[in-house]
Amino acid sequence: MTSHSAVPTSSPDSIPSLVSPILVASTFATPAATPLRLGVMASGSGSNFEAIAQAIADGQLHAKIPVLICNNRNAKALERAERWGIPSVLLDHRTFASREDLDRQIAETLKQHGVEWVIMAGWMRRVTQVLIDAFPDQMLNIHPSLLPSFPGIRAVEQALQSGVKISGCTVHYVHLEVDSGPIVMQAAVPILAEDTPATLQARIQVQEHRIFPPAIALAAAQKAGVDPTTFFSPLANHKVS
Ligand code: GAR
Repeated sequence: MTSHSAVPTSSPDSIPSLVSPILVASTFATPAATPLRLGVMASGSGSNFEAIAQAIADGQLHAKIPVLICNNRNAKALERAERWGIPSVLLDHRTFASREDLDRQIAETLKQHGVEWVIMAGWMRRVTQVLIDAFPDQMLNIHPSLLPSFPGIRAVEQALQSGVKISGCTVHYVHLEVDSGPIVMQAAVPILAEDTPATLQARIQVQEHRIFPPAIALAAAQKAGVDPTTFFSPLANHKVS
């Protein structure tokens, strides 16, 4: 009988993961003439926002972030935006009469900043058709589970409580139903016996930061009918001329 050998516990980024699909090119195929214009929406810490900003700064993702939209004045995402010199706009949902009113203002703000792709990076509000219609097939969200499993809130806790042995994260298109749109990219991680919501969340976040930039490039490339390496090269510090 085989014994269950203990899976080594180690730092969140030293545990094996699986990403699909993987972008392997080390240089840009043909760098796009104009960078993607990403409007990022965040409600909390903003670590995914910063991972995208870092990928741009490292020359991996051929993009710009003309604006960060935040609905929470205490969000760390706002501090990160300031540090990165990225303009931010606070749109506190409590000051709007309806979800639609908030989304109208978000859409207008994004359009004013010339945004092409809307990136929901820890946006903790349900969006309405008003926003979706303003950016048809150009809105992406990241979610901390392997969708379609565990949509909605507390996805990490849901996975832990269910007893599944593998979880992960998903970048997907935004449709009206929460966490329901077509999947662009996923990464899987093991769930360890000793995991808490915090340790599993940390392991998943390493993968979120890894897949979000190439997933944006992949979606944009599919829409434009070009090779994904037009917008993304995993080679760090590869500067686009
Ligand atoms: C991320 O783990 C993201 O997957 C999750 O919020 C976190 C935001 O972290 N999003 C959702 O649960 C949306 N359903 P961050 O603010 O550090 O990027």
